[in-house]
Amino acid sequence: MELCEEDFIRLSRYVKQNYGIDLSKKKQLITSRLTKMLLENGYRDFHCYVEDITAGRRPDLILPTLSRITTNYTYFQREREHFVYLNKTVLPELEKRHHTDRCLSIWSAGCSSGEEPYTISMYLLEYFSKFPVKWDTRILATDISDEMLEQAQNPVYTEDSLSALPEQWRNRYFTRRADGTYTVTQELRQNVIFRRFNLMDPIQFQRPFDLIFCRNVMIYFDQGTKDRLVKRFYHATVPGGYLFIGHSESLSKTDCPYQYLVPAIYKKM
Ligand SMILES: C[S@@+](CC[C@H](N)C(=O)[O-])C[C@H]1O[C@@H](n2cnc3c(N)ncnc32)[C@H](O)[C@@H]1O
Repeated sequence: MELCEEDFIRLSRYVKQNYGIDLSKKKQLITSRLTKMLLENGYRDFHCYVEDITAGRRPDLILPTLSRITTNYTYFQREREHFVYLNKTVLPELEKRHHTDRCLSIWSAGCSSGEEPYTISMYLLEYFSKFPVKWDTRILATDISDEMLEQAQNPVYTEDSLSALPEQWRNRYFTRRADGTYTVTQELRQNVIFRRFNLMDPIQFQRPFDLIFCRNVMIYFDQGTKDRLVKRFYHATVPGGYLFIGHSESLSKTDCPYQYLVPAIYKKM
């Protein structure tokens, strides 16, 4: 199936405007990854599909389209340096900041199948379990993909994806199933609230965040989209709060309102 230049431009523009994802250099990838899906949905060519998508006639095909051209790849304790910093620097600060309300405000934005928010949660549970009075350590985890959120809320993980975790934590927070895969315990599950959220939408949550994780998500966005999103994150961060991004990502030096601290960690001063 062929994707002509005009349809490619219309599709890229639509996806960028609505989902932030930059497809401008991905014509080949779109053709190779979407052809099967189009045929399964009765399309004989890209033109009718692009017409339907851009006219909003096939909203059911949007997320399957995005999931074929982006990746949901993730695993527990990915980029371990972030969790070392979280434990040593951020959590002691949060403990001081919230010693009266004992309620944290943490967001995993682009959480995929849940490994990132569950990892943050394990650190929170471990850190705050030493206090005699209970802390509210629930965190918000969002993604655009219903399929990923479904997996996150009915979690089944392979041994491989858990391999970076200490054995003690594997025993404490996971249950091994008969087929050798793992599910997470109720305690951990109750500590994460999953919601569908498109990062292109206005950020209107109840409270500003002490900490936002948005790692390996903005890789799909062009510089302008990234800059605008970072500014919206900034407004949704408490003074003294943090933004963690992926180690392979970078923020614009001139346009970033946060202060750079160490690789992939920024603070609102
Ligand atoms: C590679 S995963 C990153 C998972 C995790 N944060 C990590 O670093 O391991 C990227 C996730 O971003 C999500 N995503 C992409 N565009 C998005 C958007 N516009 N709004 C919300 N989530 C988006 C994808 O669905 C995917 O699950």
